Amino acid sequence: MLKSIAVLTSGGDSPGMNAATRAVVRTAVFEGVKVWGIYNGYQGMIEDDIHELTSRSVSDIIQRGGTFLGTARSDEFRTEAGRKKALANLKSHNIEGLVIIGGDGSLTGGALLSKLGGMPIVGLPGTIDNDVWGTDYTIGADTAVNTILDAINKLRDTASSHRRIIVIEVMGRKSGWLAMMSGIAGGAEYILVPEAKFNIDQMCQDLKKSYTSGRRYSIIVVAEGAGSGIEIGKQIGTKTGIDTRVSVLGHIQRGGSPSVEDRLKASILGERAALAVISGVSNVVFGFNSGKVVSIDLFDSVNNTKTLDPELVRLARVLA
Ligand code: F6P
Repeated sequence: MLKSIAVLTSGGDSPGMNAATRAVVRTAVFEGVKVWGIYNGYQGMIEDDIHELTSRSVSDIIQRGGTFLGTARSDEFRTEAGRKKALANLKSHNIEGLVIIGGDGSLTGGALLSKLGGMPIVGLPGTIDNDVWGTDYTIGADTAVNTILDAINKLRDTASSHRRIIVIEVMGRKSGWLAMMSGIAGGAEYILVPEAKFNIDQMCQDLKKSYTSGRRYSIIVVAEGAGSGIEIGKQIGTKTGIDTRVSVLGHIQRGGSPSVEDRLKASILGERAALAVISGVSNVVFGFNSGKVVSIDLFDSVNNTKTLDPELVRLARVLA
């Protein structure tokens, strides 16, 4: 049984990271284990921005988006020297185990740190992109998809009043999950994702035809990884001659009070991660599959790429 553990959040923030951190901290306190917060991700680990947390430190955060610990993307941590410095800082506080909450890149950082040896490492998938291999759930994705859905509903009102095409660019540098889920739920006519090919010319011909036969408006959701919404909107406007507008939702998708699903699942995963690391379990990521908690090998998780369910791509085409 370890006596002292630490928790950090890393990479892009996501709603529910606070709930997960709170669960890690409170579980450790409950188990009589000392718990430290590493502020500002791996950069804070290198800069020794490490402070002891109590049960009170995580009061009043379960309802907040973002991460009270702060987060950063650290270039120095990508170097072995940086990681060694970070590990030495953990050791100087007698920290014996680590919980990392973050996306694919952050978990890859955890795997690299683990290769240096020295302490058990457990990961939790925290990213709005829902692109961590081995889990069908990531902390924050549900809140983000609902934020996007709200925007689609609002854009639909104005699109239909003006008989316009509205292109909505959503996040997802490598993954079309947010676009696909919000697009299907929002009744989009087209959903463009990096994982599936699309033919703009064909799309524009079809759009023209449907406007001629009376369609009032169209909603097109574009994952940023599939191309720039602004460029795609310009092309569509030019090729169809139909009044087209573009909305780039941007970082609004990352904020906001976490949904029930994100608070609950983050709390469940936070407890699991803390208990595992305290008992010396290492190199695992906890996630959910078909509603049940699963533990995935950390190296498998970062060495594999999660793919978008082709059934969803097919469904989107049928329902368009
Ligand atoms: O990794 C999550 C994510 O939301 C991506 O979808 C997006 O491309 C990226 O973060 C943007 O992050 P930032 O602007 O913080 O670098």
